[in-house]
Amino acid sequence: MSNRVRLVEVTDANRAAVTAVRVLPGQERFVASVERSFQDAEEHPEGNPWYRAAYAGDVPVGFVMLSWDVPPAPGLLGPYFLWRLLIGAGHQGRGYGTAVLDEVVALLRADGVTELLTSYVPGEGCPEPFYRGYGFVPTGAVDDGEVVLRLDLSSRP
Ligand SMILES: CC(C)(COP(=O)(O)OP(=O)(O)OC[C@H]1O[C@@H](n2cnc3c(N)ncnc32)[C@H](O)[C@@H]1OP(=O)(O)O)[C@@H](O)C(=O)NCCC(=O)NCCS
Repeated sequence: MSNRVRLVEVTDANRAAVTAVRVLPGQERFVASVERSFQDAEEHPEGNPWYRAAYAGDVPVGFVMLSWDVPPAPGLLGPYFLWRLLIGAGHQGRGYGTAVLDEVVALLRADGVTELLTSYVPGEGCPEPFYRGYGFVPTGAVDDGEVVLRLDLSSRP
């Protein structure tokens, strides 16, 4: 079952609350923090970073960042790449991660995008089952030790 979320722009008004969203300690090897994501976005404008906070009601429960329509270049996966996705420790397992993907997919489809890529660090507790359950399939590529997955948007309702 999917709990609805809203994707909200990060501004000075909510930046601290969004930065406070953290995963469980053992999950930090699978995903960088929100704060690190802001730094990555600033340091890598060539990745066309696009990010939003995910809210359930008035509560920030997660964070998502994509490379949005990056021109093909060595070392850059795209043109649409799910760069970060995290749901706060106390909010996981309630459908929010799925709901964030649903919102992102709706936005991409509205733009006529037919494919979303992502990658994950393999290991126990990694998000592979989450992505596979959603419909992502391995492309066969491994990027810097991360398994690359593809979601075909053209075949989703
Ligand atoms: C992975 C993550 C985004 C999923 O968000 P979530 O809100 O917990 O996921 P949902 O509640 O929507 O779960 C959907 C399904 O995926 C499964 N799932 C979620 N995370 C999983 C994990 N790490 N391992 C195995 N299954 C997982 C759920 O059990 C659920 O399965 P079901 O449909 O059979 O019940 C979240 O757990 C998270 O932030 N994890 C730490 C950071 C991370 O790994 N991010 C991805 C970086 S690439």
